[in-house]
Amino acid sequence: MDAKQRAGEAALQHVKDGMIVGLGTGSTAKYFIEAVGVALRNGKLRDIRAVPTSVNSEKLANEFGMTVVTFAQTTRIDLTVDGADEIAPDLTLIKGLGGALLREKLVAQNSAKLIIIADAQKLVTKLGTKSPLPVEVTPFGHEASERFLRDLGCIPTLRRQKDGSILITDNGNYIFDCKFTEIPDPRDLNLELATRAGIVESGLFIDLTSMAIIADNATVWTIAKP
Ligand code: A5P
Repeated sequence: MDAKQRAGEAALQHVKDGMIVGLGTGSTAKYFIEAVGVALRNGKLRDIRAVPTSVNSEKLANEFGMTVVTFAQTTRIDLTVDGADEIAPDLTLIKGLGGALLREKLVAQNSAKLIIIADAQKLVTKLGTKSPLPVEVTPFGHEASERFLRDLGCIPTLRRQKDGSILITDNGNYIFDCKFTEIPDPRDLNLELATRAGIVESGLFIDLTSMAIIADNATVWTIAKP
């Protein structure tokens, strides 16, 4: 079993009957969704309703016959389980290499608890040192957004599909993957991005996570917010 699978399956113990559960996106979250689906099928879990963070995760939930609800149908999400691209020691995160950052952050901010599941490769001492920071922008004026991002000290690359066409998010926007050498102050950067027109959302997740379940090929361990 690979590390992502260990982490994904370990999160299942936090899901209880009757919960409304936010389903993350990506290859690690996929293992969690499958684990919930199997537990529902064999009766180990009951009465779970799911709020997916992407079209892909919704498809997977549907394959298991999960009840999917929208924000129109629920005012609460008890727990969200999602992957991450970088995890700093204070549990600030970079997310969004899977392209679902906007819905992931919306679901996380509306969840009572966010648990991050990841393989140990995702642990960093400083955000931005391994992964680029995904930033979702409106198609209108994306050239201006690119210049703004570059002036922040990164190299922004417009995300494209394998065939060379521009990747369009589930929300109809574009993504710039912004490579910094490191992000010295993620809180400052988050605020700067949040107040700029044309920038829809960034993959910086600050003060949203209270627990990360990390796995390598031998062990699974938990990091709690300091
Ligand atoms: C999706 O948009 C992302 O935030 C993912 O959660 C993140 O990229 C981790 O993906 P993997 O689990 O595939 O590494």
